[in-house]
Amino acid sequence: MDIFEVLRTEHEKVNKILEQLQQTSSRATGRREKLLQSLGANLLPHMYAEEQCFYQILLDETSEQEDVYSALEEHRAATMVLSDLTDAATDDPRWMARLKVLKELIEHHVEEEESQIFDIAHEVIDKDRSEEVAKRFKEMKKEAPTVMA
Ligand SMILES: [Fe+2]
Ligand SMILES: [Fe+2]
Repeated sequence: MDIFEVLRTEHEKVNKILEQLQQTSSRATGRREKLLQSLGANLLPHMYAEEQCFYQILLDETSEQEDVYSALEEHRAATMVLSDLTDAATDDPRWMARLKVLKELIEHHVEEEESQIFDIAHEVIDKDRSEEVAKRFKEMKKEAPTVMA
């Protein structure tokens, strides 16, 4: 799989967990906790590795840095909202409100990443390189923090 396929597959997984979270009721506290843990375990290493070995290439080798910096700020925002969501009691009415904000943020981010950011990346990452980047991405994920700093 090349880096674009790897990222798309991981985006689908994260979006699916967000859908599942949205369908939980405030009584399903155990399920909310379990799904939230799975969200963090998928999302945090994804963003970390993406920044280290995908965005970094774009910052180093392309002139279109504005979109990359916006995407980086969206990662920061998602991390903060995820942290707030984790802090909220699963049966608190604010819990679902925070989840909705996080879900919208991530859906928007993924949409832009797979369009604008991928377009920029295709200018400097050809087929051979994209498989190399995918390998590094997977290595980098192992080093990534899985809990919030
Ligand atoms: Fe991503
Ligand atoms: Fe991202």
